[in-house]
Amino acid sequence: MRVSWSSLLADVRACEKCALCRGRMNVVPGEGDPNADLMFIGEGPGAEEDRLGRPFVGRSGELLTKMIHAIGLERSEVYICNVVKCRPPGNRNPAPEEAEMCLPYLRGQVALVRPKVIALLGRVACQYTLREQISITRDHGRWFERKGVWMMPTFHPAALLRDPAKKREAWEDFQKLRDKLREVQHG
Ligand code: URA
Repeated sequence: MRVSWSSLLADVRACEKCALCRGRMNVVPGEGDPNADLMFIGEGPGAEEDRLGRPFVGRSGELLTKMIHAIGLERSEVYICNVVKCRPPGNRNPAPEEAEMCLPYLRGQVALVRPKVIALLGRVACQYTLREQISITRDHGRWFERKGVWMMPTFHPAALLRDPAKKREAWEDFQKLRDKLREVQHG
């Protein structure tokens, strides 16, 4: 079902469906162009995101922003969000029940934005969207089509900060994102 932005955001902001709400300073719903052709889905907010209520604004976010610029786009031209909207303590992975509780919000965001291309940042984002056992090392840069939307697993920027040697492959993935976007926009 297609909800409205205002009801979706009101529901996310008031959400107490899982224990993550108890530790949050701010809910981090997502931001960017509500009609973007390209969407980025991460895992969940970190400390800086929790503090500011905005996705990808810490160190990982700085790198993601640079990579978005490198394919000729601004953050305001894409939509950026996460699987879970509240910070998991100590930046652990969201627990399956936390992710499942939060997924209707992500589905609502995808239904409203109607992106043509989705970049899945890291294994957690893949796990709850593609519903397949994804290995980022093996499957990054591969296209998966779901209901007419092109989805591609790629490295989480935090993984690139931990292992800069992966940046070359990540850059190739981002070039594929740029090319796919051109293809779907111009036919
Ligand atoms: N890591 C994520 O997965 N999401 C954010 O918003 C920030 C860091």
